[in-house]
Amino acid sequence: MAKFDFSNRDSFGSKIGIIAAAAGSAIGLGNIWRFPYVAGENGGGAFLVIYLAFIIVIGIPVMLSEFTIGRRAQRNPFGAFRLLKPGQPWYLIGLMGIAAAFFILAFYSTIAGWTLEYLYQSIANGFSGKSPEELTAMFNSFQASGIWPVIWQVIFMFFTAFIIYRGVRNGIEKYAKILMPLLLVLIIIICIRSVTLPGAVDGLNFLFRPDFSKITPKIILEALGQAFFSLSIGMGTLITYGSYIGKKDNLNNTAISVTAADTFIAILAGIAIFPAVFAFNINPAEGESLVFITLPNIFQQMPGGYFWGLLFFLLLVIAALTSTISVLEVVVAFFSEELNINRKTATIIAAIAITILGVCCTLSQGPLQNPLIGDKELFGVLEWTSANLLLPLGGFFIVIFVGWFLGKNNVRDEVSNSGKYRVRFFSFFMVIVRILAPVAIALVFLYQLGILG
Ligand code: PHE
Repeated sequence: MAKFDFSNRDSFGSKIGIIAAAAGSAIGLGNIWRFPYVAGENGGGAFLVIYLAFIIVIGIPVMLSEFTIGRRAQRNPFGAFRLLKPGQPWYLIGLMGIAAAFFILAFYSTIAGWTLEYLYQSIANGFSGKSPEELTAMFNSFQASGIWPVIWQVIFMFFTAFIIYRGVRNGIEKYAKILMPLLLVLIIIICIRSVTLPGAVDGLNFLFRPDFSKITPKIILEALGQAFFSLSIGMGTLITYGSYIGKKDNLNNTAISVTAADTFIAILAGIAIFPAVFAFNINPAEGESLVFITLPNIFQQMPGGYFWGLLFFLLLVIAALTSTISVLEVVVAFFSEELNINRKTATIIAAIAITILGVCCTLSQGPLQNPLIGDKELFGVLEWTSANLLLPLGGFFIVIFVGWFLGKNNVRDEVSNSGKYRVRFFSFFMVIVRILAPVAIALVFLYQLGILG
């Protein structure tokens, strides 16, 4: 079979397209579904402060490191490490990222399937006239049914595969450019409704008034995991996207804009969810179902709620889709460039394999709840392991690679576009990737293991 032709690789077409695609990857269910529920389980304000600190100290440097590796090598994560450091086992980090992509997409597509059910319910006016208890029961019986969550998940994976099948410029970039701005407008409207609910202030206090006495090793690890998960870093998604960025574009600005956009949307999601949680007497530590129970309650109480609910769930589907494509792309780029499988065939194989694991995940939330692994079902195991373990571990090695192995001049050359941009904080960036970020990640792990503190 002919070797992959690297001179003919697909790429992004415009600066705005790059930002839309990378922000599209970062902004997703991680911001709107996962951030509120994990913050709710971990004390609210204190969690938010630690999360923000990790975004700045670790998130931006890891993201810039990933873009640097990707654009330098113009390869998928596995191929990139092998090309940049031949004969050394760094490619294992690439492989770990590909494994993480399987895990993440498997559980992510479960939730993405739920968003399709909720879109369907909002079209069918299924929330109307229901009490908070009834909306909770509605969610539980949907989950327990087994078959519908699976059908929606398969449909969602089909959409994801369809876009990836079309390619980078005509698929990923084209859709992200239209869909992301729409998402922003909608979430702002929902925030306005939420903060004007009676009792909203309790929710805002929960989110913005940190109670530092609540900090535990678990909260710190969860905040780190959420920072990685939300920014799509630590597994090579942004190495892959970086490999489609042209040599003229500014990596530094892209990393900062994408991080800012992602963080902004997460905070907006918190502002949309927590006032409603308190206004409707929902437990903030409700878990994975939090968003699916609070939001229908809000829409019910809004003038024009039918319309806004419909738009919101449509956008949630879209936000999820611009993220799932970025995860699938990692696997497809690897299959097509390293295993010489034609891109279209690679898309089909990868999507089917991931969907099989994903269906097991979905069923583990409903009828097949046992056997538990530790105290978690399969869904929880994949979610916990990828966010709190694989991504931070991947990020740890990525910054070490850029800091100590890629060569300072190479890094400077790539980040400054061969000297075209003055990168003012370059020395500071090097200190972070060499020392600060790896030490911070290592400390969080040691603290969690009870070795520290
Ligand atoms: N960042 C995405 C979100 O917040 C999820 C994701 C994680 C995407 C890792 C790619 C890689 O929804």
